[in-house]
Amino acid sequence: MDKHLGSTEETEFKTLTEQREELEDIGQNCSNNPTMGDIINRRFSRRSFLGGSLAVAAISTTVSPFALLSADEARAESTSRFDFKEIEAGVDEKHHVAEGYDADILLRWGDKIFADSPDFDPLKQTAEAQGRQFGYNNDYVGFIPLDGSPDHGLLVVNHEYTNAEIMFPNFARVEKVTEDGKEEDKVVLGEYTKELVDIEMAAHGGTVIEIRKVDGKWQPVLDGKYNRRITANTEMQLSGPVAGHDRVKTVADPTGKKVFGTINNCAGGVTAWGTYMMAEENFNGYFGGELAEDHPEFKQLKRLGAPGGQYEWSKFYDRFDVSKDPSEANRFGWVVEVDPLDPTSVPKKRTAVGRFKHEGCESIVNKDGRVVLYSGDDERYDYVYKFVTKGTYNPNDRAANMDLFDEGTLYVAKFDEDGTVTWMPIIHGEGPLTAENGFASQADVLINTRLAADALGATKMDRPEDIQPNAKTGKVYVMLTNNTKRKEEEADAANPRAKNAFGHIVEISETDGDFASTKSKWDILLKCGDPSVAEVGASFSTATTKNGWFGMPDNCAIDADGRLWVSTDGNNEKETGRTDGVWAVETEGEGRGTSKLFFRVPVGAEMCGPSFNLTSDTFFLAVQHPGDAGLATYEKPATRWPDFRDDMPVRPAVVAVTKQGGGKIG
Ligand code: FEO
Ligand code: CA
Ligand code: CA
Repeated sequence: MDKHLGSTEETEFKTLTEQREELEDIGQNCSNNPTMGDIINRRFSRRSFLGGSLAVAAISTTVSPFALLSADEARAESTSRFDFKEIEAGVDEKHHVAEGYDADILLRWGDKIFADSPDFDPLKQTAEAQGRQFGYNNDYVGFIPLDGSPDHGLLVVNHEYTNAEIMFPNFARVEKVTEDGKEEDKVVLGEYTKELVDIEMAAHGGTVIEIRKVDGKWQPVLDGKYNRRITANTEMQLSGPVAGHDRVKTVADPTGKKVFGTINNCAGGVTAWGTYMMAEENFNGYFGGELAEDHPEFKQLKRLGAPGGQYEWSKFYDRFDVSKDPSEANRFGWVVEVDPLDPTSVPKKRTAVGRFKHEGCESIVNKDGRVVLYSGDDERYDYVYKFVTKGTYNPNDRAANMDLFDEGTLYVAKFDEDGTVTWMPIIHGEGPLTAENGFASQADVLINTRLAADALGATKMDRPEDIQPNAKTGKVYVMLTNNTKRKEEEADAANPRAKNAFGHIVEISETDGDFASTKSKWDILLKCGDPSVAEVGASFSTATTKNGWFGMPDNCAIDADGRLWVSTDGNNEKETGRTDGVWAVETEGEGRGTSKLFFRVPVGAEMCGPSFNLTSDTFFLAVQHPGDAGLATYEKPATRWPDFRDDMPVRPAVVAVTKQGGGKIG
């Protein structure tokens, strides 16, 4: 069981994805914001005592702690509102879903998006074909009803990044590499051509596709008039306070308003007026070249880890080389809003919402009609944000809502030991955000959002990921993946564990259900990891079985009944003895903190995109980077999911889960 204690640092072998994540997650927050080392765990001492003593009791019994947990299975059924039969946690080449449910492959990398798209031929990939096919590494999935029917609508899907080593034939190979005097096998990529980079660019972005349930099964509608691919080359517009500013004018665009492409679109959101929101996360990795330390953009780019140089795009496109076009990177790291009902519309990068590594951008209409958008900045020690629009949502006039995200107030969170969360406004001229401190305008403040939040003293979190408001309860759930770098003296009330390998979930209770509130309450819903190992300090309810706990919460969804579902990124054989998956987590009543495993991914994958249709009788799940484990290459992936054909590569895919015979999920 000790293996579950292992942090990522102790893993000898790292896949390319893990290496990339490590490079992206480089902990650039050098601010002196307090980590409240002097108030370690004070807030949690009571609750930890309770959870910890139960965990210790479990481990000190002479029987297996799992035997004790198994005895609680019946209780899990009675205390959780979820009544599906939990599946076994584990690792293999397939996906698994709870008994009585079907998990059907809906869209795979390379599938046709248009009636005239070319068929997928993995040995003859071209950028042109890819631009008309489903992209790589599906992440966010959203369902937008078209005619009020739960069985017909648009599916919007982000394509976050590409895994060249398992995507391109005859490209990657396993070689013996000597590093620090140690010889080991590594996957080494071949020489990039412009053609390969162009395919990668076409495999990024997003897909809008009409889908319909026919005879109980979801199908893409290939001649749907709204179908669209968005790529790293799609024309977009910068809108809001930064549009046209000198710092976003480039060699190719003297207007500072016209941008091509969106990249590393991780999670996202769908608005009340049916637009598709795409969050730009680790954009830094696509930029190469070098900037002198005294260059005016150096400091803020360094804070974002740019240029990261994980892709080779800058070799073929000058705009991705910061030494040739230092402003281009300032045009990424935003939230993009797409009108899916007009496939010719120019997506807008909403600069008012701030620039950082946006994991997601889920929004909710507040009781006063303003719209509140939540977004986590996914890096160790980075922050939780929300944006409140100035204008209000008009349910009777869709067009009137289209630019709501161009005006409003961006806030960053400070989590205090007494359970208060203070949302601090990020406004030019207020507090430290003045010209003397390097913020000459609101545009400067927004381009340098991380530096502005540093100056305000925001709370450094353990990798904020998806943030989900719950309209039924007025609560907001913040996924925090992990932070193995946090030291004992850096532990604070909202991030109570040093070397936090398994992450936790923070629950914000916005005051009186007012999502625009600037002072609210917070609590910890769950500290994740194996609850039978006392040192882990996990806080799942004792009714949670050995299959029910998880590590590394990443994305989440709220179903039609207001219940929480959590998907994960980072569980594997070594860390937790299980793949990633989706767990149903009870947030209310006696069963609070009880978690049950509903679906698990094939080896190497992470679980993204949990999203429901209107009536929650379909659960859309995105299996991202399957097969990316061990020394995976195109020729030798860790699985050939979902086709299991020798002539087909492993393919990321969106799965539609339905209940046999119909009915609500879970
Ligand atoms: Fe793209 Fe935060 O994961
Ligand atoms: Ca994610
Ligand atoms: Ca979500």
